[in-house]
Amino acid sequence: MPDVEQLLAELSNAAGPSGFEGPVRAVVRRELEPLADALETDGLGSLMARLGPEERRPRVMLTAHMDELGLMVRRITPEGYVKFQTLGGWLDQALINQRWIIQTHLGPVPGITGIKTVHVMEPEARQKLFTRGDMFIDIGARDKDDAEQRLGVRPGDPVSPDSTFARLAGGELYLGKAWDDRVGLGVMIEVMRALHEQPPAAATTFAVATVQEEVGLRGAETSAYAIGPDIGINLESGVAGDYPGITPDEAQERLGGGPSLFLHDSSMLPNLRLRDFVVEVAGSLGIPVQFNVLTGYGQDGAAMQRSRGGAPAINIAVPTRYLHSHNGLIARSDVDAAIRLVTEVVRRLDSDAVAALRRFD
Ligand code: CO
Repeated sequence: MPDVEQLLAELSNAAGPSGFEGPVRAVVRRELEPLADALETDGLGSLMARLGPEERRPRVMLTAHMDELGLMVRRITPEGYVKFQTLGGWLDQALINQRWIIQTHLGPVPGITGIKTVHVMEPEARQKLFTRGDMFIDIGARDKDDAEQRLGVRPGDPVSPDSTFARLAGGELYLGKAWDDRVGLGVMIEVMRALHEQPPAAATTFAVATVQEEVGLRGAETSAYAIGPDIGINLESGVAGDYPGITPDEAQERLGGGPSLFLHDSSMLPNLRLRDFVVEVAGSLGIPVQFNVLTGYGQDGAAMQRSRGGAPAINIAVPTRYLHSHNGLIARSDVDAAIRLVTEVVRRLDSDAVAALRRFD
């Protein structure tokens, strides 16, 4: 029995800011290689695994993105401090006084986004927010030359959050960075493991670990074009609304309540017949599902939905607290339920079911 917790921990801990997904891709490749009939990367770096004959239809495409929010080295100051460009949708408050790791050609270089001490601040300055333009990473370099020559930092080097996986509440909850979207990757890998053991009779399945989602669904765009899916299912971290200060009109999911289906986000409207199909499968398995209606948010399902001639698509998510920061929380029970649900959805997507989903009248 594969250890799902161990896999999720490894995925969460791996460094992979947008455009630098290599360490994550290595984990996904290792896991999917023995499960797939074919495995290849597209020209942008997304890893595409196929299970089933190449020519068979329907083609069901699963996606989960490998990249996480990060930074990129913009320049090094003469004093040896690192100024940066953000990658993905960061909140300025989430950036300050955090630990980071710069991935250099000489290896990982740790650093922190320093914060001016309260002792030297006037009362009004203490109320002000720190903004990214004023921030820098302190890597302990003596000067610019030291940062470049001894530590190996170069402009363009990726910077990832430094956080380590931990168990909360006796192991019911998992704490870690980058659940967006390493939890989706974990679900996708385990779905492929289940499908490999008992392959779907009808559909050829493509499991695609995409690149550069956080900067605009770029990897899903190229891989969806390459594959040309009949149905698209994106696997994501959801948006929990079960903590103080957030309302059901902002986010409805709660941890432990089961996988969630997105009904609206700023990138996509799901196919409602596909929504009903997933709800029906969940009901037959006794799996609770949740819904979410978000004003913002974007996800790879949108790229599959709009690729070539279009495809019915849906986003299935594992509820997550505190997205887009150094530490997020997910519930193990939601991960297990998402794996069972998506596996069974794919198994039931035969030609008739897909034809019905793709019929518009
Ligand atoms: Co995401």
